[in-house]
Amino acid sequence: DDPANLEERAPVVTIMGHVDHGKTTLLDGIRKTKVTDTEAGGITQHIGAYQVEEGGKRVTFLDTPGHAAFTTMRARGAQATDITILVVAADDGVMPQTVEALNHAKAAEVPIIVAVNKMDKENANPDRVMQELTEYELVPEAWGGETIFVNVSAVKGEGIDELLEMILLVAEVEELKANPEKRAQGTVVEAELDKGRGPVATLLVQGGTMNVGDPIVVGYTHGRIRAMMNDVGRRVKTAGPSTPVEITGLNDVPQAGDQFLVFADEKKAKQIGEGRAVRAKEAQRRQTSRVSLDDLYN
Ligand code: GTP
Ligand code: NA
Ligand code: MG
Repeated sequence: DDPANLEERAPVVTIMGHVDHGKTTLLDGIRKTKVTDTEAGGITQHIGAYQVEEGGKRVTFLDTPGHAAFTTMRARGAQATDITILVVAADDGVMPQTVEALNHAKAAEVPIIVAVNKMDKENANPDRVMQELTEYELVPEAWGGETIFVNVSAVKGEGIDELLEMILLVAEVEELKANPEKRAQGTVVEAELDKGRGPVATLLVQGGTMNVGDPIVVGYTHGRIRAMMNDVGRRVKTAGPSTPVEITGLNDVPQAGDQFLVFADEKKAKQIGEGRAVRAKEAQRRQTSRVSLDDLYN
């Protein structure tokens, strides 16, 4: 991109950490909403994407599940992000998915801010969390290191302002920019087949601006954007860099983590999308036959 076309964009912040350490509650506190109430069994099973505005600055948040089963979702979350908030419950300390999440963030070379949550609990022990994370090279500033630690209580709404301040500070250092003038490109956050609407995908626009009616290739799927909805369920006509939107109009359901690109004409998008689908099927077929060959030797 020509630097002259680059404009400041909102940071994309992914919330990660062990199951039940309070990621969604913390995001609820930031958004002043209640997503946790609608979750089955209180367990997050998908990546939620939201945007908030703080002092005139926008921040995009991706919530991720902490359950052990959702490793790939955490890995994908880490890849689409600018900053990771590692949530660690102050009573529980560092747990297996805390370590897994910090490793994903490190592998993706994404800066980590530690939110030590549940500080309202009687047995909260933030010093132990600092001690434990130091073993993974996340050394708090207070101890001469470079990692920002913020003590919070998601349920009491304490420490959230400071956390947002730190996010904006880190974002400023990162100098995040994108060109809003080109055709949109980005990543699939999640996708599913809706009975009434057909394939529905939540996309994170990373560059360019997406418009209703745009021809698009999404992973191995393609189509023309029929409708777009923002994170609060309102219909929108355009979406710029760092904006999460839900779209309909695809011929099939893409996968979380897939890349998307808008095309100038629908014929081209169809041709490329279909070509990719054929190659994907072929690769899958080969993989299946390799598995059956392995079976012969076992
Ligand atoms: P998964 O997405 O399933 O991994 O969980 P999560 O990390 O999103 O945790 P969630 O927000 O669902 O919270 C788990 C439990 O911890 C809920 O019962 C919350 O009410 C509770 N909780 C979250 N934050 C706090 C906090 O600051 N203090 C206390 N005391 N409880 C909290
Ligand atoms: Na939970
Ligand atoms: Mg959750």
